[in-house]
Amino acid sequence: MFDFDKIIERKSDKCRKWDHAFVCSRFGDVPQDFIPLWIADMDFTSPPAVIEGFKRIVEHGTFGYTWSFDEFYAAVIGFQRQRHAVEVDKSWITLTYGTVSTLHYTVQAFCQPGDSVMMNTPVYDPFAMATERQGVQVLANPLRVTDNRYQLDLDLTEHLLKTHRPKLWFFCSPHNPSGRIWRADEIRQVSDLCQRYAVILVVDEVHAEHILDGKFVSCLTSGCAAQDNLIVLTSPNKAFNLGGLKTSYSIIPDSALRQRFRQTLEKNSITSPNIFGIWGIIFAYQQGLAWLDELNGYLHGNARYLADAIQTHFPHWKMMAPESSYLAWIDVSADAHSATELTNHFAQQAGVVIEDGSHYVQDGQNYLRINFGTQRYWLEQAIDRMQKHYS
Ligand SMILES: Cc1ncc(COP(=O)(O)O)c(C=O)c1O
Repeated sequence: MFDFDKIIERKSDKCRKWDHAFVCSRFGDVPQDFIPLWIADMDFTSPPAVIEGFKRIVEHGTFGYTWSFDEFYAAVIGFQRQRHAVEVDKSWITLTYGTVSTLHYTVQAFCQPGDSVMMNTPVYDPFAMATERQGVQVLANPLRVTDNRYQLDLDLTEHLLKTHRPKLWFFCSPHNPSGRIWRADEIRQVSDLCQRYAVILVVDEVHAEHILDGKFVSCLTSGCAAQDNLIVLTSPNKAFNLGGLKTSYSIIPDSALRQRFRQTLEKNSITSPNIFGIWGIIFAYQQGLAWLDELNGYLHGNARYLADAIQTHFPHWKMMAPESSYLAWIDVSADAHSATELTNHFAQQAGVVIEDGSHYVQDGQNYLRINFGTQRYWLEQAIDRMQKHYS
C-alpha cells in the first residue's frame, strides 16, 4: 500500500544527513555523489496522513501561539494503549521540545554539579552531552557481549551504584546503537536496583516503534518498573521521521518528580508547543499506524539484506541482530583496519558515509553503525561500492 522503494530526493531539503557541506565537515573530503547511511534519520516521507494534515494547516495560513490541547493528550494515551498496552494518565504527560533537550533538562532538574548519571555503554552520545554540559559526571556501566548480544552486568551495576551513588540512570530501551530490546524481567531488575539505591530511572523509549524481532516492553507496563521513581521520555520523531519538528513528551507517574521536572521546564520557558510539532504527534499517532506497520516490514527486509551482504562480502565482521530500530551495529575488531580507518576510507574513497562506534560514549570503538532506514536501492549501491573499495 505504501511505496518504500520510491527514491526521495533529499539533497535539497537541507537535512544534515544529505547535505554535502555538513557531511564534509564531519567526514572529510567526501565525493559529491555520496550515499549517507549515518545519522538516525530515514529517507522515507512521513505518513500521507501527516503530510495531508500539515497541508491543511499551511493552507489555513495562521500559525499563532498554541498550547497543549486535549487532542494531544488523547493521541498519546490512545497510542500508548494501542501500541504498548500501557495505561497513561493525562496528568502524567508533559509536552517537551525533543528528547535530547529533555535529557538536558532532566539533569538540570535532579542533579547538582559534581553528581553523576549512570548509563550503559556504548550508548547514544547525547546521553553523555546532556550530563557533562551541566557539570555532572558520566558514570559508564559497560554492557557485556554474550553470543553477539548485549547483556546488562548486574553485579557491576550494583557495585557502581554502591560506590558512586549516581542521581539518575539514563536507560535506553530499546538500546541505541544495538537495537537490543530489554525484557520485562531485565527492566524489573533495573528498577529494583534504582529503588534500592535511590536512583531515578530515566528511560528513553524513542526507538520503541520499530520492532523487527521480538516484543517491546515499555517500562510503564504494569508490574514492570516501579512508578514512583520513573521518568519516560519519548517522541514520534524516529518512528515517523519527524525529527526536524523538535517536539517530544515525557511521562512521569509520580507527582513530586513531575512537579520538579516541570519547574525546570518553566525556568527555561519550555511551555508553548510548536504548532507543527503538536499536530505532528496527533496526526502520526492517530492516522499513521498502518504506515508504521508496513514500514517495519520493509525495515525487517533491509536488516536481512544487510546481514546477508555483510556475511558474504565482509566475513570478518559480525553484525548484531537488530531487534528494533533501523541501525546495524557491526563488530569489526577482527578486521585489519580500525573502525575509524574504515569509516574514513569508505566516506572519502567509496562515498559511503557510515559512523564508527567511537562516538557512543565508550566501548564502541571496534564497531561500525550503518543506518538502513533507506530505500533498498541505496543499501545495494552502498554495499557494492564498499566491497569494491575494500582490501
Ligand atoms: C536513543 C535516542 N534518543 C533520542 C533521540 C532523538 O530524539 P528526539 O528527536 O526526540 O530529540 C535519538 C535519535 O537518534 C536516539 O537515538
